[in-house]
Amino acid sequence: MKRVFSGVQPTGNIHIGNYLGALKQFVELQNENDCLYCIVDMHSITVQQDPATLRKNILDVAALYLAVGLDPKKSIVFVQSDVSGHAELSWVLTCAAYTGELSRMTQFKQKSKGRESAPAGLFNYPVLMAADILLYDTDIVPVGNDQKQHIELTRDLAIRVNNKYGETFVVPDGRFLKSGARIMALDDPTSKMSKSAENVHSRISLLDTPQKIKKSIMKATTDSDGVVRFDLENKPGISNLLNIYSAFSGKEVSEIEKAYEGHGYGDFKKDLVEIAVGAIAPIQERFQEIRESQELLEILKDGAERANAISEATMKRVKERFGLGY
Ligand code: TYM
Repeated sequence: MKRVFSGVQPTGNIHIGNYLGALKQFVELQNENDCLYCIVDMHSITVQQDPATLRKNILDVAALYLAVGLDPKKSIVFVQSDVSGHAELSWVLTCAAYTGELSRMTQFKQKSKGRESAPAGLFNYPVLMAADILLYDTDIVPVGNDQKQHIELTRDLAIRVNNKYGETFVVPDGRFLKSGARIMALDDPTSKMSKSAENVHSRISLLDTPQKIKKSIMKATTDSDGVVRFDLENKPGISNLLNIYSAFSGKEVSEIEKAYEGHGYGDFKKDLVEIAVGAIAPIQERFQEIRESQELLEILKDGAERANAISEATMKRVKERFGLGY
């Protein structure tokens, strides 16, 4: 059995990029692996949050985890700030990381762009992420493509510590899906679909109504030649929609291209609406029920206890290796 760890920030608007790039893999992996799935609330405060909204969003992500199919009997589902080991290990790893490598992280560069000074938490974000992963002796990290650089840094830190202090951490591997790993914005297929983009039609959120999903897909940017063909460079809009179609339906892109030969974008988009709504509706039904249940809080409490037990064993080892305490 391999150990799997991943996390999602509770920053609202969880969208189909998060689902097709990450959550879908979480569910697939839980049957044959030992999985921990975290709601990384401490990462989300690297940008300012409204406290009441953050609390709501934490429970929303927890409910969505279960609604997409995570089973608390198979996976440990918990909130990051319930396990103090994350912050503790993050400090130890901060001392092993270099400012040079952290300043090269593209996410930091993007988020701090145009600012005279950025929050130190934003700079240290990838170190906290490395701590999340290394705290649980993780073998596999299922994520979208945008996290590749962070996984690389995690591996570098693990190897660096192992070389300096002796075998301390398991060196993890990222796991990326073929068609879901990079879902682009519907209004601008050259930038990734994001939770925070101003235009609501740039994304499909897992909690959108069928009418909204239809509108967003029908409005999605394509091109003028009207041929349903995958060509990332010259036809990024339709290529993105083909990826989404493929990830939801499980069909190969080439198979989909063939099915729409001689059809325009209108037919293709209408079918995609049906597929997306069909996949999202059952998630929403379960979400409402779970979100209002007392059981959700019990699942998180139990998850935190189980995660704490694993994290304490790792921290004991880390402290010994680094000579912390007495
Ligand atoms: P976050 O909350 O931004 O996104 C959650 C997951 O969704 C994936 N994702 C996408 N996949 C495909 N297309 C997209 N447009 C898209 N947008 C987001 C992300 O790659 C991610 O897998 N740093 C992480 C959270 C984190 C984490 C961790 C992940 C903190 N600690 C430890 C794994 C392991 C993040 O911001 O995810």
